[in-house]
Amino acid sequence: MAQALETIPNNVDLSSDRRLQRALEQWQPNFLQWWNEVGPDGFQAHQIYLRTAISVEANGWAHFDFVRMPEYRWGIFLEPKEKERVIGFGDVIGAPVWEEVPGEHRNALRRIIVTQADTEPASVEQQRMLGKTCPSMYDLRNLFQVNVEEGRHLWAMVYLLHRFFGRDGREEADELLQRRSGSSDKPRILNAFNEPIDDWLSFFMFTMFTDRDGKYQLAALAQSGFDPLARTTRFMLTEEAHHLFVGETGVDRIVQRCAELMAAGKDPRASGAVPFELIQKYINFWFSLSLDLFGGEVSSNAADFFASGLKGRFREDTLEEHKAVGQTYRMEVPEAGKLVEQEVPLRNAMNEVLRDEYVKDCQRGLDRWNKTLQKAGVKGMTLRLPHRRFHRSVGPCAGLFFDPDGKLISEAEFKAQEGEWLPTAEDRAFVKSLMHPVVEPGKMASWVAAPPKGINGMPIEFEYVRPPDA
Ligand SMILES: [Fe+2]
Ligand SMILES: [Fe+2]
Repeated sequence: MAQALETIPNNVDLSSDRRLQRALEQWQPNFLQWWNEVGPDGFQAHQIYLRTAISVEANGWAHFDFVRMPEYRWGIFLEPKEKERVIGFGDVIGAPVWEEVPGEHRNALRRIIVTQADTEPASVEQQRMLGKTCPSMYDLRNLFQVNVEEGRHLWAMVYLLHRFFGRDGREEADELLQRRSGSSDKPRILNAFNEPIDDWLSFFMFTMFTDRDGKYQLAALAQSGFDPLARTTRFMLTEEAHHLFVGETGVDRIVQRCAELMAAGKDPRASGAVPFELIQKYINFWFSLSLDLFGGEVSSNAADFFASGLKGRFREDTLEEHKAVGQTYRMEVPEAGKLVEQEVPLRNAMNEVLRDEYVKDCQRGLDRWNKTLQKAGVKGMTLRLPHRRFHRSVGPCAGLFFDPDGKLISEAEFKAQEGEWLPTAEDRAFVKSLMHPVVEPGKMASWVAAPPKGINGMPIEFEYVRPPDA
């Protein structure tokens, strides 16, 4: 149970560890200062209809109410311990899970946790101006829900750093509040988290594709032999599902609006909606950027993380075999100007194995959008994922040029067609020109269809965001 009267809501019995509690209570005002400085701009005093995690119980973990964001109760919640849980994969399979950090894995685990942690505040920073151009009050509320939960995910990771990594961990926790998305001086660790998200098409693409990378990273860590990490990421996944919902349905509503106009013989662009080809370009951009987050196709780090029981595969516990030795993974890699087949030891291909699951899941989302096109009566047009070699900055395809079908082409060929494949400055300007705030309850911007239903059983026209003095 959450102890609601404590400063930091938690189910980790924080009050029994005075040192830890004090350390976190010292970090808390810095977190709040960070939130006020670079969190959602312009709405800090508004009352938002938000859900707050209050426990981990399946049917009672979330509490919905109006809160001012700086007063949100960010808490620390781990899924309950499984009795006699053992490590489920790698060389140490069958050994009891670790309740403390094993010395030999300390650096690797710290790095894994810090990299995950860094994405959480980064996305809040990236999205901070979006409230000012929200397409509806419903969407405005969803944006803030995502933002406060990314804040809670930062808490979840900072707890691990403070609790298990001593002074180094505390220093890392401080640095998490010092780096800034897009800063030339102290940027966030991963590239996709330094891209600005200053229009809502990008926001929905980000929550569809980039948050979905998060889902797969968290799912791999949910298998970890370091039990506190496994338990905390499991609970984060519960919240993450809503972020992915926001992205997938957000794009779906943009597709729907575009499709309805096309089916009626109208030009989406002239009607203040997002044209089909622009949706495709944004998919190409955000999907490829998010693919990079999985790391290199062939990776000895990934092999080590798997071998030592730190990071498993997606739903490792449902697989038949958990050692991944003596097996290979076939992939095509560019070599001296052409693509060649390569057999890679399976453990070294773990990033690619996880990416496979991710790509499948993304394709499911695109199938849904294509259904929306069809249902509206648009024929012969489908949205598609670009090939995973397209527009990559990490792995063997980085620095080379591929078309969206994955064909190796020259830089000149790429440059000649880049504007058809990826958003141009003009495209971005057009998308931005559509971004005018719509805040009357129940009303929608011209470029997005209304959602089928509201949040937590509330009607779509519910006043999800109330002014400070209401
Ligand atoms: Fe998150
Ligand atoms: Fe998220």
